[in-house]
Amino acid sequence: MSLEQLLAWIPPGSPDETLARQVNFEQLPAHVAIIMDGNGRWAAQRHLPRVEGHRAGIDSVRDVVETSARLGIQILTLYAFSMENWKRPPSEIHTLMTLLKRYIRLELSTLLKNNIRFQVIGRHEELAPDVRHELEIGIRQTAANSGMLFNIALNYGGRAEIVDAARRAIAAGIAPEDLDEQRFGDFLYTAGQPDPDLLIRTSGEMRVSNFLLWQIAYSEIWVTETLWPDFRRRHLLESIVAYQKRDRRYGGIKPSPVALGAK
Ligand code: IPE
Ligand code: IPE
Ligand code: MG
Repeated sequence: MSLEQLLAWIPPGSPDETLARQVNFEQLPAHVAIIMDGNGRWAAQRHLPRVEGHRAGIDSVRDVVETSARLGIQILTLYAFSMENWKRPPSEIHTLMTLLKRYIRLELSTLLKNNIRFQVIGRHEELAPDVRHELEIGIRQTAANSGMLFNIALNYGGRAEIVDAARRAIAAGIAPEDLDEQRFGDFLYTAGQPDPDLLIRTSGEMRVSNFLLWQIAYSEIWVTETLWPDFRRRHLLESIVAYQKRDRRYGGIKPSPVALGAK
């Protein structure tokens, strides 16, 4: 994607345009992962039931998915439901699953229009049959798309993913001496995908809540106080501009200008 393609979609003269012009399209994060948090607090601030926060959060999902695809992000991973979220009241879980089904049904045309491939990560076989059915339609219909990969993390747990990967490696008959980090990664739900470059968490919580534990080893973390239902294109652009100012060292040292120029 190019700046022109993004600007064609942004109101001229808006703060979003100023931000879009600050993005370096040569250095986009390949993979952006988001812990979408704060829906309940958003609703509580408005004296609404928690589920209204989840409902409002769907608009943020739409905006972020389309903005990411237009920007040229290769992979977007959204944390929608953790294995620990089953601890919530059944009525809230029911609403979340209903919203998920509706989202897939209503957004399929947008996913297709933007050449987005949809995929689920997590123990999706444990989800209800009606939810799985809807997910399978979304996966099948977008399978041939070649643009952005959109992973939705559902019934996802980072530790469970590592356990599942270990089980798969054993089932595949991998000899212990043949197992290294690279091979192990091939058994994760995200096999073949680059690790997230940028991990965003909304609502100000400074924790990872069992998300992509293996893959975020060297992700740049950006936490915003913005609650998920208020998160829009502008916040995503802000996070990317901030990410592009980071100095990623991976345990090494930053080469000094002198060293760079030295023979
Ligand atoms: C995130 O919002 C949505 C899910 C975890 C499914 P929350 O529902 O966690 O909202 P808060 O954290 O209670 O505000
Ligand atoms: C993380 O949010 C899970 C998702 C965004 C799906 P939570 O609201 O469940 O996390 P905690 O409980 O605050 O750690
Ligand atoms: Mg929360």
